[in-house]
Amino acid sequence: MTKPHFYITTAISYVNGPPHLGHAYETIGADVMARFKRLDGFDVYFLTGTDEHGQKVQKTAIAKGKTPQQFSDEIAALFIDMNKSLNISLDQFIRTTAQFHKDACQAIWNKMKEGGDIYLNKYAGWYSERDEAFYGEDELTTREDGKKIATSTGTEVHWLEEESYFFKLSEYTQKLLDYYEAHPEFIQPSFRKNEVVSFVKQGLKDLSISRTSFDWGVKVPNDDKHIMYVWVDALTNYISAIGYPGDKDGTFAKYWPADIHLIGKDIIRFHAVFWPAFLMSAGLPIPKRVFGHGFLLTRGEKMSKSLGNVVTPQALIDRFGVDQARYALMREVTFGQDGDISYELLGNRVNAELANNIGNLAQRTLSQIAKNCDGKVPQPGILEDVDHQLLDKAGQAMLIAVRGEFEKMQFSKAIEEIVQAANAANLYIDSQAPWTLKKTNLERMGTVLYVLAEVIRNLGLILQPVTPVAANKILDQVAVAADARDFSFIGAGYALQPGTALPAPQGVFPRYEAPSEEKIA
Ligand code: MF3
Repeated sequence: MTKPHFYITTAISYVNGPPHLGHAYETIGADVMARFKRLDGFDVYFLTGTDEHGQKVQKTAIAKGKTPQQFSDEIAALFIDMNKSLNISLDQFIRTTAQFHKDACQAIWNKMKEGGDIYLNKYAGWYSERDEAFYGEDELTTREDGKKIATSTGTEVHWLEEESYFFKLSEYTQKLLDYYEAHPEFIQPSFRKNEVVSFVKQGLKDLSISRTSFDWGVKVPNDDKHIMYVWVDALTNYISAIGYPGDKDGTFAKYWPADIHLIGKDIIRFHAVFWPAFLMSAGLPIPKRVFGHGFLLTRGEKMSKSLGNVVTPQALIDRFGVDQARYALMREVTFGQDGDISYELLGNRVNAELANNIGNLAQRTLSQIAKNCDGKVPQPGILEDVDHQLLDKAGQAMLIAVRGEFEKMQFSKAIEEIVQAANAANLYIDSQAPWTLKKTNLERMGTVLYVLAEVIRNLGLILQPVTPVAANKILDQVAVAADARDFSFIGAGYALQPGTALPAPQGVFPRYEAPSEEKIA
């Protein structure tokens, strides 16, 4: 049976500086989703990478006394390292300086040109180097120091006048509006859709898509003094990575159109307006969903060096451990919204939910099995209603609820469902009191501990996308075979074989002890 395909991407990051927590957050979100889909029976392709061209990268490199290529190599290596430390299960890390990618950019350019959508003219207008974006007069504000800034992002703009190729974006106004109408799920979360639709409804202007004043980029076919606008180059990564314009091994045909482009809310316009227009022009299918996540804040503020509230990805890993850091980030902030984090908030999640709830449940159950059942999967007697109820709540029903939340990328709610299931199991162990049954009814003790071992198996399975290492340690402890760890085994009753010897129990979610001087990040 062939599996359904699922293609998920993150934004590719500019290499003008090392990765920060925002990058980690997005990549973890995509990883959690990719892992979920793989375990849920999909053939997944997960792409991430770096966006290495453009004026901003070139200038930063030169200011540091390096060539843009040297500088890109160094920073790209840091992103690759970050992905390793976060246990990101990517299929490809694309760098836009790769030759195959540059070839793909020229190919899509030629397609858009053949379609009659590219013409030469002169650009005169405002440009933000920081955003690598063009802004209209109505999108600007004048700051106290007299400098003009882009209202939406607060970055400085400067006046630009140069010969430029243009893309006939104006011709796509109605086509895009029709597309949004016919595909209401295209822009997510849905509250972001309105801002895109009202922007497009004002009528789109043609877009400048080449530059001549610097050279760090992909050359325009047959006109070497122009390089492509970095966003034409960058967006093309989503198709170049899987083989466009050729398709030697069928990868492009298999995975395109992408299922989800996961990006920050600040770059929705590029993905929900420019990108579908380029694709329509080139005669290619449009991705199914663009999901804009929010920003992580500390005490309501953006993290910044000057505020001294920067939390690095490595700092979180060092403090909590990788699995715990992934869990706490996905749990603490509603995906799609901005949200506050601090060591205290994240530490509380780790302790209340991973250590005290799930970890404790596993520890209590497994140590009783070790002590009272000879370290073997217990033999259950006849199951009672309470047993069936728990096996469903922490089995099939949990899977269905979690899957429903994953469909909407509501990771925090999905985790909430898991925590609720573990809660129910903790209530069950208290009410069934297997430590008392040991003296009164050994068969019933075996049943209760068997049911709990099954619940732990289900929890281990469902936790794999978020806490992959710890979840697999849990599964090791209930002796689940490596080929019985996908979601088709959740709630499959009696999967554990009574009498199977189990390894000595080990805690997998230790408590987090905050350093004594710690208040808040
Ligand atoms: N480099 C851009 C940024 O960091 C994102 C590019 S994403 C892609 O904002 F669409 F171009 F791929």
